[in-house]
Amino acid sequence: MHPDVEQILLTDEQIAQKVEELAKQLNEAYRGKEVICVSVLKGSAIFFADLVRKLDFCVHFEFMIASSYADSTVSSGILKIKKDIDQPIAGKHILIIEDILDTGNTLFKLKKELLSRRPASLAVCCLLDKPSRRTVEFRPDYVGFTIPDQFVVGYGLDYNENYRHFPYIGVLKPECYKK
Ligand code: PRP
Repeated sequence: MHPDVEQILLTDEQIAQKVEELAKQLNEAYRGKEVICVSVLKGSAIFFADLVRKLDFCVHFEFMIASSYADSTVSSGILKIKKDIDQPIAGKHILIIEDILDTGNTLFKLKKELLSRRPASLAVCCLLDKPSRRTVEFRPDYVGFTIPDQFVVGYGLDYNENYRHFPYIGVLKPECYKK
């Protein structure tokens, strides 16, 4: 275990098992369909790569970079899209793949934006959900783990761009982010 991690919350085996379970649900839901799987970078990169390799329907890849900023004039904040999907999505099935749902601001705004482009369907698959941090009402369609309000890193999740490459999800020692 890395010295900055105080506890492993989810081992690589637990994550792999959950990825299998989520893929099974998705394979049933999307059987026979063509689906654009959207990775919201950077955090979802590892989860996306593991999950799509377990899917047995027709999968196309897209990547987005988007973040939500607080703004007192807009209750759910402003969505800044740094990299958009490369194609029109009207009439297509869209599956957003995210690493973590925290306040809900990013996915709330992202879902609204993509729905305005009239896809045939839009669903959200999130590995981690921290419902206690929610500031906007948002329910993902597929969830891996519901976790407590702890600062987690690894398996794509970072602090200051560090720790994303860990194969497990760990709780960061407070002294590492309170410096
Ligand atoms: C993380 C995560 C989500 C968002 C969730 O991304 O990947 O996109 O935060 O938080 P929210 O529910 O409070 O909006 P981040 O902006 O940290 O960028 P990253 O994916 O590059 O790490």
